[in-house]
Amino acid sequence: MMLGRLAIRQIPRYYKVSSRLINNSHQLSLRNVPAIRRLALVGLRRPFHSSANLLHRTASAEHGMATCGNPAPAFKFERLPTNAEPTHYDVRLSPCLNQFSFEGLSTVDVTIKEATDVLKVHAQSLLIQSVSLITNPGDAAKKLDTTYDDKLNILSIKLPSVLQPQKVQLVFKFIGELNDKMRGFYRSQYKDKDGSEKFLASTQFESTYARLAFPCFDEPIYKATFDVTLEVDSHLTALSNMNVISETPSTDGKRKVVKFATTPKMSSYLVAFAVGELEYISTKTNSGVEMRVYTVPGKKEQGQYSLDLSAKCIDWYNEWFDIPYPLPKCDLIAIPDFSMGAMENWGLVTYREIALLVDPGVTSTRQKSRVALVVAHELAHLWFGNLVTMKWWTDLWLKEGFASFMEYMFVGANCPEFKIWLHFLNDELASGMGLDGLRNSHPIEVEIDNPNELDEIYDSITYAKSNSVNRMLCYYLSEPVFQKGLRIYLKKFQYSNAVTQDLWSALSEASGQNVNELMSGWTQQMGFPVLNVTQRQDGNNRVLTVEQRRFISDGGEDPKNSLWQVPITVSVGSAPSDVKARFLLKEKQQEFVVEGVAPGEWVKLNSGTTGFYRVEYSDEMLTAMLPDIASRKMPVLDRFGLINDLSALLNTGRVSIAQFVQVAASSANEDEYVVWGAIDEGMSKLLACSREMSEETLKSAKQLIVKMFEKTGADLGFAEQSGEDSQKMMLRALVQARLARAGHQPTIDKFNQMFTDFLEKGTPIHPDIRLATFGVVARSTGKEGFDKLMNLRETTAFQEIERQAMIAMSQTPEQPLLAQLFEYGFEKNKVRPQDQLYLFLGTGSTHMGQQYAWQYFCEHIKEFLEKYGGANSSLFQRCLKFAGESFGNEKRAVEFQDFFCNCKDLTDTDRQTLARPIGQTVEAIRLNARLLEANRSIIENLLKQSNL
Ligand code: BES
Ligand code: ZN
Repeated sequence: MMLGRLAIRQIPRYYKVSSRLINNSHQLSLRNVPAIRRLALVGLRRPFHSSANLLHRTASAEHGMATCGNPAPAFKFERLPTNAEPTHYDVRLSPCLNQFSFEGLSTVDVTIKEATDVLKVHAQSLLIQSVSLITNPGDAAKKLDTTYDDKLNILSIKLPSVLQPQKVQLVFKFIGELNDKMRGFYRSQYKDKDGSEKFLASTQFESTYARLAFPCFDEPIYKATFDVTLEVDSHLTALSNMNVISETPSTDGKRKVVKFATTPKMSSYLVAFAVGELEYISTKTNSGVEMRVYTVPGKKEQGQYSLDLSAKCIDWYNEWFDIPYPLPKCDLIAIPDFSMGAMENWGLVTYREIALLVDPGVTSTRQKSRVALVVAHELAHLWFGNLVTMKWWTDLWLKEGFASFMEYMFVGANCPEFKIWLHFLNDELASGMGLDGLRNSHPIEVEIDNPNELDEIYDSITYAKSNSVNRMLCYYLSEPVFQKGLRIYLKKFQYSNAVTQDLWSALSEASGQNVNELMSGWTQQMGFPVLNVTQRQDGNNRVLTVEQRRFISDGGEDPKNSLWQVPITVSVGSAPSDVKARFLLKEKQQEFVVEGVAPGEWVKLNSGTTGFYRVEYSDEMLTAMLPDIASRKMPVLDRFGLINDLSALLNTGRVSIAQFVQVAASSANEDEYVVWGAIDEGMSKLLACSREMSEETLKSAKQLIVKMFEKTGADLGFAEQSGEDSQKMMLRALVQARLARAGHQPTIDKFNQMFTDFLEKGTPIHPDIRLATFGVVARSTGKEGFDKLMNLRETTAFQEIERQAMIAMSQTPEQPLLAQLFEYGFEKNKVRPQDQLYLFLGTGSTHMGQQYAWQYFCEHIKEFLEKYGGANSSLFQRCLKFAGESFGNEKRAVEFQDFFCNCKDLTDTDRQTLARPIGQTVEAIRLNARLLEANRSIIENLLKQSNL
């Protein structure tokens, strides 16, 4: 069976497209789905294999990770010894864009803290020409011997004798490659206006790639100051974290030497350089910081939106954090090849083009709001991450969770047109819960043992769950108290490092509460609770009995009996927007009395959906709320939360699809995009299951959906109406796309007509309905539409359109066309590696596509590993998940698992690195299967009774 995509934050936001437009039609959305180990426990048709290669649950299965049978002894990761630390680096690099190489000379001031005869630094893929030691300034340098551990990337430098604690200098001469793997110091390629191929060089050092550019103490704890000097061809622009202090001709007069001011004390992963033919636009913040947006030639105007916003953002954060941005400048640069969405290098923030550049008439509203979010996210890191840095990657959430929260705070306060908090619920809260409902989740504070696991934890737990937990805490303490605590934390640890406990202490100081006790359950345990609520009336009071247990998407038991301290808020029918009562649930089960509630009045928990938990009501309590959902008297955030909870409970088997359809039907008057999104997601599960049952069932399910969506579709039409808010066009696209997927012919015809009119008459398609339109064309018009989309992709100069055409084409139901697309994208390399994951994105919409994508992945895994730079690459891991997660039966789950155990192109270390992503995908596949089994007969009855 086809399945939806895991909402495993596999797609960072800036890459994200409105996923519901792409893949939901015949797929389950995995967002709410879940867990594999449980299935094994209850013996749910897990075929018995005697094969030694079968994935076993070993001891690490405690953490929900899959490992293959007889795993090789785990490689033991080592941190750098603490006997020495760097205080200052002088780094001189001379990159050559023609030869894809650079020469380097660096001097590192090192303080030896304990007597030693060996110093260790990180270095990787560098040809080290010499290492020398200077013990007293002015003395001659002594050449030293080295050894190298290529597993740990550690260069051990043998000192001439045991050195007592003192300050010394290490001098390195080396040569490196400007690689094409989007990490370290790398090259990026683009075509200039004459169509000739050009290169620029840029960096991506987080988490462990500064060592690819120069030898360094490449761990976040080692903060030092940096003097950077770049020698480049005279016609090129050279940028680094700081402002230029001198520009002089090189000794041979052919190049120029650009020297930058000394940075503040900072971690190595935040150093950055960029070299190329760049152009820029600039402005100044009110506080006097010089802001620039850099692009390759011809694109600088598209930076205007981000430039204005980023200047405003720096001023806003200056005030909110009460610490001024300490650098004289901040550049934002759009890099054509970029593995992530963006990177917060201090003073030189790098972005993929689509995450920074906006064309007002062409960029969709969602994409524009994502640009706003990503700009605000990276700038928040200038405080959360750069000024105060986590001690170790275990506390990665300290920067990612807070930058993620602050981006919404900024955009919410400064760009009200986006109604961004509505989107928060789907994109953050629901996405975090989607992943955290899996048994193969991990705690926010995650043990990082092997650096090869690092990329894998930049996921929906570290981002979306952390973000949601921050929002919950902010509501619980109140914004002023929360802000006060953050200010205390930032001031206390500025230019230094911190752990989670430090943050809790600052918030405790600000609030007078024991924040550690409240919060450690949320960051140290994986998962989150679902509250079961029942009620009784007692005079004028309502007595609630609330029981918590871990929400696991497969509905099974929690092996750990986890408990949380859950901040509960209550609202009631007579004042739906107010918080009527607050409680803190600490025990497994507690009773709470809400005073002054009339008999019959509804009572709802989690007002405003601010908590990171789900609620399961008794039938009676749920039924009482339905009229106010229908009339929209209940606030939108609550409607979303309620419906999203129900949709998630579908997979647990505790809510049936029939019950969900009943609630969805009472939402006929719903007018908010995000709520429709939650309804739509549940309906896509109905379609996904029906499709697996029979042609007849699928047909009836489609009819039911047409019946449910038709009136709304007719009311909305296709054209923008004057005075609408930003959500209306998105809603229109969502509803019409769903009708088209349900086979509603007039809707399909209308979309196709819009596309034809666009191509033939130049009639614009509204950016917010463009992806929906392309998708219908790809699914309904065969080769003809496919060729047109391909042509559009080739001729448009705009990345969002390129990407949307590609996603649409990947939904083609015709195998030869899909084969053509994959060959074009992967083998002929017509699609940048950073974007190739989009080729997988739409394939889950047909059986053929899912099968094709999986087979393609299996056959080309070696090339993928090579292209993306290994198993730790997040691009590789996303492809892996996309290639499997739409499957929906046990056979596929086993096949998927077995493939990775048997694959000769993977090493044991790779398998270790991939254990969690594989485990999550297998779990998702089993959840799809489970959903189908739980609902087969229910769907049959539902469709029979629906008078279609
Ligand atoms: N620090 C990250 C970039 C990063 C991610 C580096 C993973 C190394 C590994 C950056 O701040 C970030 O979070 N970028 C996000 C975008 C953001 C708006 C959520 C990304 O690239 O997905
Ligand atoms: Zn970040």
